[in-house]
Amino acid sequence: MLLLHLLTAWGLLSTVCFARLVELIAIARSAAADHGSDSGLVSAALLALLAATVLYLPLRAARARSSLDVLLATLAGLTLVFGLCDGPFLYRPPRTASLSGQTVLITGANSGIGLAAAKAAAARGADVFLACRSPVRCSAAAAEVRLSLGAAGSAAPVAKPLDLTDLRSVAEFAAAFQRQAQRLDILVLNAGFAAGKDDQRPAHTAQGIELSLGAMHVGHALLTKLLLPLLERKPARSSATEAPARIVTVSSEASSLARPMHSSLFAGRGEGDLRGELTHAQAPLETPSALANLLLGRIPAAFSGLGFAGFSPTYLRAKLANVLFARAMGERPLRRGARRVLSTAVGPGFVATDIFANSGLHSLGGVAMGALTLIAVRPPHMGVLPIVRAMMDDADSVDAVYLDSMGYANQFDAVCWAAGGCGGEEAARLMQVTERLIRSKG
Ligand SMILES: NC(=O)c1ccc[n+]([C@@H]2O[C@H](COP(=O)([O-])OP(=O)(O)OC[C@H]3O[C@@H](n4cnc5c(N)ncnc54)[C@H](OP(=O)(O)O)[C@@H]3O)[C@@H](O)[C@H]2O)c1
Repeated sequence: MLLLHLLTAWGLLSTVCFARLVELIAIARSAAADHGSDSGLVSAALLALLAATVLYLPLRAARARSSLDVLLATLAGLTLVFGLCDGPFLYRPPRTASLSGQTVLITGANSGIGLAAAKAAAARGADVFLACRSPVRCSAAAAEVRLSLGAAGSAAPVAKPLDLTDLRSVAEFAAAFQRQAQRLDILVLNAGFAAGKDDQRPAHTAQGIELSLGAMHVGHALLTKLLLPLLERKPARSSATEAPARIVTVSSEASSLARPMHSSLFAGRGEGDLRGELTHAQAPLETPSALANLLLGRIPAAFSGLGFAGFSPTYLRAKLANVLFARAMGERPLRRGARRVLSTAVGPGFVATDIFANSGLHSLGGVAMGALTLIAVRPPHMGVLPIVRAMMDDADSVDAVYLDSMGYANQFDAVCWAAGGCGGEEAARLMQVTERLIRSKG
């Protein structure tokens, strides 16, 4: 009887997983089309084979003759639940939750997670502004968001492009946004890119800072500084129940694989490794957490040691800086008379976006790992859900925390432990360095 119940539960779970499987195969096919290679199709075929095996093993366990069968079935079950089938465990916003009347600005809003965030916010009634570096892609994305709208929200590109690799562009963009928008309630710092794993030397921003750190951290930090007065401004007819403003910083679970920040930025004399030469030369960190991540199948950084889809250590450092920045913003004392501003860091998990175009994920050599990796890949509309939580969940539940890829809140001290932690002291020191940089180069 117990067996019958277990099999019924298994059947239900498999049905849910089947929908996700179909979605994943569609992603693999479109990846193949986008990248002009057949690796996506091969990956999809391998994935289907893998899934069939995974679904078959529990049935075999029902007639288990040996403890090996039971062990295999248990492993298959865990793979299915934590890999293919994490959807049911992912944070979902309440149906009634609304962002009506809220103004949201999203960087890197023309593709991937940023575009999904724009759609999610606009669909919940927000007035969304898209920040992009290409005006053409921005207008197209805004049109796509408007098309997807069911509710009363709106979507518009900001009149000036935003190139985070140039602090002058950031300043011009912030000024243009202030002219265009009357208020700002939610700032989503999402734009990002993965440095090519085969780059021979680190690239630099217009101000000579290593590109990943300069764009994803310093550029976003300047944007936040310039828009903070708007976030902190209390609406004219303020009431005690006025919702706080929010800063959502999109980091990555890969931040836990970065080397300690102080060894690259603060150690030694002068500016430390701002130009990224030392960081770029590091081998990606191999730690038990990389193994854990590999087992959970969530992040490609875990594969970097295998020479597959590796992220550069400069990317990992920038993502760690994102977490420290979010912590520092979350620990700022409330200014008298200012509106409260929440700060949340988010690790969206492994999401199928253009960010992997340069990663080797679609190369033929990576096919087998690609198939394995695809198990854990989410489409952007699912990957964005932790960000949606940061944008709209109860203030105290998302302030000064790190939301992981399932949308669960973690204290900063509990994340990026492999990187030596994301301590408050380190966060404060990073902000000092950043302030100095912005003053001298901005
Ligand atoms: N996808 C994942 O699995 C994953 C996992 C963990 C974290 N993340 C993080 O999620 C964020 C969004 O990435 P995604 O996966 O959605 O990638 P994506 O589809 O490639 O989108 C990245 C966006 O950032 C913009 N961007 C890149 N460089 C910029 C610059 N210098 N100035 C202004 N905008 C710039 C891109 O604009 P263009 O179109 O002009 O290039 C694009 O709109 C990133 O911060 C990434 O680190 C992603």
